[in-house]
Amino acid sequence: MNILHISAECYPLAKVGGLADVVGALPKYLQALNTNSSVIMPYYNTAFTKKNSFKEVYKNTLQLGNTSFEYSVLLLPKNVLGFDLFCVNIPNLLYQDYVYSNNDTERFLAFQIATLDWIITLDKKPDLIHTHDHHTGLIPFMISECYKYEVLKNTPTVLTIHNAQYQGWFSHDKVGLIPPFNFNNVGLLDWNGVINPLASAIKCAWKVTTVSPSYMEELKQKANGLENLLSHEKNKCLGILNGIDSKVWNTETDNYIIKKYSIKTSKSGRQANKKWLCKEFNLDINKPLFAFIGRLVGEKGADLFPEIFLNALKNKDLSILLLGSGHKETEEKLINLKSNDNFNAYIGYDEKLSHIIYAGADFLLMPSRVEPCGLNQMYALRYGTMPIVNKIGGLKDTIIDINDNGYGICHEGVTVDNVHKAIIRATNFYKNQTKYTENSKEMMSIDNSWHNSATEYLNLYKSLKQ
Ligand code: ADP
Ligand code: GLC
Repeated sequence: MNILHISAECYPLAKVGGLADVVGALPKYLQALNTNSSVIMPYYNTAFTKKNSFKEVYKNTLQLGNTSFEYSVLLLPKNVLGFDLFCVNIPNLLYQDYVYSNNDTERFLAFQIATLDWIITLDKKPDLIHTHDHHTGLIPFMISECYKYEVLKNTPTVLTIHNAQYQGWFSHDKVGLIPPFNFNNVGLLDWNGVINPLASAIKCAWKVTTVSPSYMEELKQKANGLENLLSHEKNKCLGILNGIDSKVWNTETDNYIIKKYSIKTSKSGRQANKKWLCKEFNLDINKPLFAFIGRLVGEKGADLFPEIFLNALKNKDLSILLLGSGHKETEEKLINLKSNDNFNAYIGYDEKLSHIIYAGADFLLMPSRVEPCGLNQMYALRYGTMPIVNKIGGLKDTIIDINDNGYGICHEGVTVDNVHKAIIRATNFYKNQTKYTENSKEMMSIDNSWHNSATEYLNLYKSLKQ
């Protein structure tokens, strides 16, 4: 079976969040299950594209409404990442040093059209097309409705929803950017009077998955306007929990971290990483270190961080370190909080630092209001850092509270008070170092790798095979 993933992000070429990690890992694990799996994404100007040489495999001109763009399809062969990585290069439009911007309707439509224009020229076409999130959400519609892609009409399509908050809405004024189709079916593009690529993909894809089973259930109640659509389409929807790439996220081989360690040597290894963090960020190594890594947005509870941290820091016996960026107002408040001795923050994106934090922090905070899956808590488990999570979405599906014979700390609902109580439970737990270390080793032995979830995807693909 030949699976083609179409995505805006893929690690290590371009990563904004967990979407990149998933698209960079799932194909590798499918390959291991003897399923040929490749990825096509936009060609951006990133450190990775500068460093690696790609081979041009196709060249043409695409039509976006009245504008034409020259483009090429580039290939990074399997031996580099473990799967074929194809990229669509549209100079000036896609080839930028950012992934997302304010003309994404045009950018991602051009990407999707270029991709389908190329696929129809292939001798060996994919057996199944797997699209991810709204950026590639018009693919299922174009395959089933656009005249020029008629040859792909019987190719099954799968949509994975990584985050239903963002839907890629644009006005019907721009419908002419989509290649000609039977206008009687224009309703398949629409949701509430605008073109909604995510809604369109939910309607047109053969199967729809979310990145955790709990998130699928939650979406039927609250999906930024798509609740009724998801309830209506429930028979083709299912939740498959993300895994992690345990080859990339491996404390024994991770070149980013200060000291590598195994379960056996985790106490000293983790201590060495904590020592580096505390020195670098001027924090006291003898205090439990709480960390946050991620986007500073409402979904992650970030607007409450300044208050949550201020409250927690009244207890002088703990430290907090934050790595992230997002809403400017929150960033500013967090920068001001740095005047507190026990708090520090790196406002920005830093892959290496994130790995050291997973390896050296004692607790990872995830007071998310919405978390379709969440990968951070699984990286924390694998590196021996205890997660503190709000019990929703994928967090609910992956973290069991220590009081329920589990290994993490869960709270229900995101309020300053709830998170504060969870932090108090954590500091009390930390006082018994023997128990803390035992728990840390137990977390490291949990297998959250992609193997099981890749098998679930494979079963889904097989169920759609003609
Ligand atoms: P989301 O995709 O919603 O942002 P996930 O938990 O699925 O959340 O994945 C986030 C990914 O991005 C993880 O790999 C995390 O380590 C990484 N990440 C997020 N923010 C940063 C940052 N500022 N620096 C480095 N890595 C980050
Ligand atoms: C999204 C979600 C996150 C999930 C990631 C990968 O960005 O917000 O919860 O882990 O996609 O599926």
